[in-house]
Amino acid sequence: MTILIIFESLEGQTRKISEFVEERCQRAGYRVRMVSTHDMAAQISVEGAEKVVLAAPVHERLHPKGFEFFVASHKDELNALKTLMISVSLNAAFPEGRAEALDFLTEMQRRTGFEPDSKILAAGAVRPDCYGYFESVTVRNSVLADRKINVFEGIREFTNWDALATEVDAFVNM
Ligand SMILES: Cc1cc2nc3c(=O)[nH]c(=O)nc-3n(C[C@H](O)[C@H](O)[C@H](O)COP(=O)(O)O)c2cc1C
Repeated sequence: MTILIIFESLEGQTRKISEFVEERCQRAGYRVRMVSTHDMAAQISVEGAEKVVLAAPVHERLHPKGFEFFVASHKDELNALKTLMISVSLNAAFPEGRAEALDFLTEMQRRTGFEPDSKILAAGAVRPDCYGYFESVTVRNSVLADRKINVFEGIREFTNWDALATEVDAFVNM
């Protein structure tokens, strides 16, 4: 049985999350294929996969264009399979941000026509080592706005790995 993991990551946290999912799937006895829509979108085929996990981060309220394009152009195949969508954002890290984190995913579903069977809103990370001026200002002034987090303090990971393991296992063993 094969699980296909399709992901995209700009600063690395969604890649780390996808590798974590890969390990959980292997532990459950699945073969895993992991591909990124960043450099391989045209070659990705869902053929032969029993289940598909999709993972993508939110930047300025959107998942990456290439990822969305892939999902929209494969929506019929994806809708016919058992799928889990992991949307990674900083809003998901805060109780008062969860509704907005869900909006990002709902908007993507509306644009692409893709309806995942299971969804995870995963908290991402602040990674100042990957930011230029624009990214630093956006994360500090817009994404984290009133939250008392210093963007320049170094990498700050909000991902709750235990919760993620539970949710991923529930999908894998479904
Ligand atoms: C320029 C920029 C814009 C972002 N915009 C949002 C946003 O609109 N909403 C949100 O919740 N998180 C936002 N984030 C936070 C990212 O979703 C978070 O850092 C995530 O971990 C990035 O995943 P990646 O490392 O796989 O790219 C933004 C981050 C950056 C750098």
